[in-house]
Amino acid sequence: ALFPPVARPLAGVRVLLTAGPTREPLDPVRFLGNRSSGRMGFALAEALEALGARVTLIAGPTALAAPRVTEQVEVETALEMYEAVMVRAADCHIFVATAAVADYRPETPAATKIKKDAESLTLHLVRNPDILAAVAALSQPPFTVGFAAETDHVEAYARDKLLRKGLDMIAANRVGGDQGGFERPENALTVLWRDGRREFPLMDKTRLARALAQLIAERYQGRHAA
Ligand code: CTP
Ligand code: CA
Repeated sequence: ALFPPVARPLAGVRVLLTAGPTREPLDPVRFLGNRSSGRMGFALAEALEALGARVTLIAGPTALAAPRVTEQVEVETALEMYEAVMVRAADCHIFVATAAVADYRPETPAATKIKKDAESLTLHLVRNPDILAAVAALSQPPFTVGFAAETDHVEAYARDKLLRKGLDMIAANRVGGDQGGFERPENALTVLWRDGRREFPLMDKTRLARALAQLIAERYQGRHAA
């Protein structure tokens, strides 16, 4: 049978995409983590690849099967993710940061298992580099797409991140309620750019990823228009 030609608007386009959580070690057996499943990022990576892009996925630890993308690099900590991205960022056309990167890490992980000797324990955390902001600040940055997971004032915080980090687009979602987001199969997004916005209603993450990939392709192709 003959099928109609599939639209591949991102043919020849190299995409770098972060996904999943990071783990910040406390000692050899423990880490600080977060509730990101990686599902939205993996789905978006596959959706972009399906539009013809060559996608390199930089993934924190997830329970997901390897997605159909050109290359997958597995990392654990925010610093490892930062390194893996920065050595590849100059070579990509589009960078998408879906990862839930730990904002802070224990300053010096204990070399041996921490024993419960004391009645209380204080952790000293230091800030991790902002991977998305670092890519957007390159002298010739790729088309840069961020995510913003917020519990409140979703759109205002997201627009602030778009401008402050100098992004081309940001996809904002509400987390912590029962409306989708982390640990859920469905999600709703409000996507913002400097002079526009689009709302995606609550739907399963695979469908949402396809719709978002289409929008990224459109905005990427129109990037030089004033
Ligand atoms: N991000 C990143 N590197 C970090 C922290 C965040 O690349 N060290 C990216 C995320 O992948 C996401 C975007 O920045 O695309 C926004 O993440 P978010 O946690 O919502 O914002 P932050 O800038 O970390 O600010 P805050 O957590 O205070 O809201
Ligand atoms: Ca953060």
